This record gives sequence, structure tokens and C-alpha cells, in this order.
Amino acid sequence: MKISFTLNDKKVNIDVDPMKRLLDVIREDFGLLGTKEGCGEGECGACTILLNGKPVTSCILNAIHADGKEIYTVEGIAEKPIGKLLIDCFDETNAVQCGFCFPGFLVSSYYYLKTDGEKNLDKIKKALSGNICRCTGYQKVFESVMLACVRKS
Ligand code: FES
Ligand code: FES
Repeated sequence: MKISFTLNDKKVNIDVDPMKRLLDVIREDFGLLGTKEGCGEGECGACTILLNGKPVTSCILNAIHADGKEIYTVEGIAEKPIGKLLIDCFDETNAVQCGFCFPGFLVSSYYYLKTDGEKNLDKIKKALSGNICRCTGYQKVFESVMLACVRKS
């Protein structure tokens, strides 16, 4: 089936099995390897992307869900001013260890900064509650996002 959508600000077309997982389309067909697979069951957030502006887990969506939509992966978000700001803040606070969870955290944090952005720990915790990190505590991640909230305003 032919589908078309916008991927990181570019119009794309692809002939694909409509039931292929969107995560696999992103990684295999478009070579965007920043989006990770952790649990494969919609629980860990490693595969988070923005679909029509909202964070979703791409491992539980199929290619058909992308048709006619606008998608940003971590690669696209990393090019945006708020994405760059967040990356700097994660870097400064040493919030990342192995980095596997980082793309998902970046996408969810980006959404928070775009839609709210208040330096409010409870709100930030809630916004990132779908993202799991196996390496570390979450405190530095929260600090990073708080720092980005301050710098953005
Ligand atoms: S890999 Fe998609 S939520 Fe874990
Ligand atoms: S830094 Fe390793 S899973 Fe989060």
C-alpha cells in the first residue's frame, strides 16, 4: 500500500505493508535509528515520536497510522531550537548514561516545553512518566527539563 506523510519536515511516500510497525518503518525504511525499541509493548517510551504533534509510542502503531500525518522523530526534534536547548541542558546536567532512553525522553520533554513549559517538578514528572530509564534515577533528567524551562522563558 502506498502511504504518504511528513517526516521531519519532508514529504515522504512509501510503498509498504500497512501493518508493518511504524517503529520499523522509521528505522528500516527511513534509516532513522534514533528511535529505539525497548519493550516493544508501548510501556518504556524508547520509541516515542510525535504524531500530529502528540507523543506516541511507535512500536504499537502500524504504517497505516502514519498516512497523511505529520511525524517528528528525535532526529527532527534535535534540529529545532527547543530540541537543541534540551540537548544542551541534558548534557550540562549529565543526565544521560548509556543513552538508550534519551531519544524518548527528548521527544517527551520537547512536547512538554512546547505545550506547557512551566518549571514545575510535578508536571514534568507527569509529562515524562511514560519514559523508563534502566540506568539511573530520574532526578537529573527532571533537573535538565527544569533548566530548559527556565532558559526557554
Ligand atoms: S519500545 Fe515502544 S514503548 Fe517500549
Ligand atoms: S541512560 Fe541508559 S536507559 Fe536511560
